Amino acid sequence: MSLHFYNVLHVVGIIMLFLGIGGAVVRSFLANNSGSNVGNLERFVLINHGVGLLLVLVAGFGQMARIGAQFSTWVVVKIIIWLFLASLVMFIKKKPELKSVWWYGALLTGGFAAYLGIYKPF
Ligand code: HEM
Repeated sequence: MSLHFYNVLHVVGIIMLFLGIGGAVVRSFLANNSGSNVGNLERFVLINHGVGLLLVLVAGFGQMARIGAQFSTWVVVKIIIWLFLASLVMFIKKKPELKSVWWYGALLTGGFAAYLGIYKPF
C-alpha cells in the first residue's frame, strides 16, 4: 500500500473519530437533560468512534513504515493523544456536564496531533 493510501486512510479515520466524539458529547447531553431514548444513537456513535480509532492507528503505522519514521518523541506523543481520544467516550459518559472540556480538549489535542504529523518537530 502506498504512502498516499495511508495518508487518506489516516484522515478518513480522523474524520470518523471526531464525528464519534462530537456525537458522544451530544448523545450524553441529550440522555441526561431530556431523558430521550438515545440508545441506538449510542451504538452508532461508538461504532464510528471505534472504527475511526482503528483506521487512525493502522494508517498511522502504515505511514511510519512508508516514510521510515522511528518512534521519535512526536510519534510517542501522538500515540498518547490517540489513547486520550480513545478513552474520551468513557469520560463523556461519566461526566456529561463537562461537555465543553471534552469538546475543546478533543479539538486542541487533535489539532496538536495534526501539527505533530505535519511538522514532525522533535
Ligand atoms: C488520534 C490522533 C491523530 C491525529 C488527529 C493525527 C493527525 C495527523 C495528520 C492531520 C497528519 C498529516 C497527514 C498528511 O500529511 O497527509 C498526520 C500524519 C502522520 N501521523 Fe497522525 N494523527 C493521529 C494519530 C497518529 C498515530 C497514533 C500515529 C502512529 C501510530 C500517527 C502517525 C502519523 C505519521 C507517521 C504521520 C506522517 C505521515 C507523512 O508524513 O506522510 N498519527 N497525522
